[in-house]
Amino acid sequence: MLVSATEMINKAHEGHYAIGAFNINNLEWTKAILAAAEEAKSPVMLGVSEGAAKYMCGFKTVAAMVKEIHDAMGITVPVALHLDHGSYEGAKAAIEAGFTSVMFDGSHYAFEENLEKSKEMIALAHSKGLSIECEVGGIGGEEDGVISAGELADPEECKTIADLGVDFLAAGIGNIHGKYPANWAGLNFDRLEEIQNVTNGKPLVLHGGSGIPREQVQKAITLGVSKVNVNTECQLVFAEATRKYIEAGKDQEGKGYDPRKLLKPGADAITALCKEMMENFFGSAGKA
Ligand code: G3H
Ligand code: ZN
Repeated sequence: MLVSATEMINKAHEGHYAIGAFNINNLEWTKAILAAAEEAKSPVMLGVSEGAAKYMCGFKTVAAMVKEIHDAMGITVPVALHLDHGSYEGAKAAIEAGFTSVMFDGSHYAFEENLEKSKEMIALAHSKGLSIECEVGGIGGEEDGVISAGELADPEECKTIADLGVDFLAAGIGNIHGKYPANWAGLNFDRLEEIQNVTNGKPLVLHGGSGIPREQVQKAITLGVSKVNVNTECQLVFAEATRKYIEAGKDQEGKGYDPRKLLKPGADAITALCKEMMENFFGSAGKA
């Protein structure tokens, strides 16, 4: 059974480790990440952007696919199916479709409107027993058409949203989506500490988890980050492994062009990456 993420995130926060939230795009991605979590005995969150949900024929298809794959693989570790960067309408639709966790990202609204909509969405998610994440201060960069200039979250605004009872909070601390530019200033730990203090220890979420130096992410985890989102790194290892397979001419040998063979190196690379992150980076391995 898929679960809400509240318990796994609260335990991670208490234990000073983090849960990886890895974005999925299709059946291969789903199987690969679930296999990693099961092998590492780690709780995991499967993130689904609205763009990826559309690609997979909608929230209902995604929820049904993930539930069936989860059961067929005999997964025993806690797994949450989480809407990533949900819009007001998208979050409602994902809740309706059977997701077990949602992010409502109102960071592009004026704060008052973000506050009102976050309040409504928190009440709705909690009435169905789901966990909910909200965002304050945009995360820089571009993800699946969601573009933000990025900013440091205002601690007072973070406190106001945290006090609504949100389960975990995404707050901009200099992190950005996609590849980090060479002149990136790094995470702002002073702001992170300030936000953690003013929210009375609300579990925090680090978006843009691909490409941040590992020691910075690990320091952020000690300061209250309990969920790290990873999307781009999975895409990069998938593309690289698939390219190598084709460039080596493996798709021409035997029945190497069979999609089940062609997509396997990329899927295996995702499993290896996620498992390695759970074991050596986030510290969630063995916590299921
Ligand atoms: O919401 C998803 C993430 O924030 C992923 O960021 O593409 O930099 O790994 P990333
Ligand atoms: Zn994100």
